[in-house]
Amino acid sequence: MHVDYQSLNEQLAALLAGQKDALANSANFVSLLYAGIPGINWLGIYVLRGKELVLGPFQGLPACVRIPVGQGACGTAAEKRETLRVDDVHEFAGHIVCDPESRSEVVVPLLIHGELIGVLDIDSPQPSRFSEADQSGVELLCETFVQSLLPGPGEFI
Ligand code: SME
Repeated sequence: MHVDYQSLNEQLAALLAGQKDALANSANFVSLLYAGIPGINWLGIYVLRGKELVLGPFQGLPACVRIPVGQGACGTAAEKRETLRVDDVHEFAGHIVCDPESRSEVVVPLLIHGELIGVLDIDSPQPSRFSEADQSGVELLCETFVQSLLPGPGEFI
């Protein structure tokens, strides 16, 4: 399933330009991606609060609110600070079921200067929905989102 991630990234940069509010930017980020990536049934952010990931803005069915770091696909990606692609969630030990329709998943850690602030989680009802190209595309989008939260040159905060 081809997605033009460069074009989606340009749309994202334009959407977030000049905005620094983390909640507003998170909400627009997940909305744009959910509309732009076909074949998915859930996409959202979990925010790091202490040693837990807490549900943030998302699109899809209601989801579990708290995931300890180190548990499930989200907590594993958070702990390792590495993107995790799960081709078949039934084969992933410790997978946390939110929507039973989900069959594959990609989780990208959100890092500011190497510090974890949360993860982006995307679920699909199709097994092996996410390729390496999807992974790099989504990582690019996450980088643009995180950059939108940082102060620009000469800005105090
Ligand atoms: N499957 C995730 C939980 C979050 S939901 O899919 C929205 C996990 O194993 O961490």
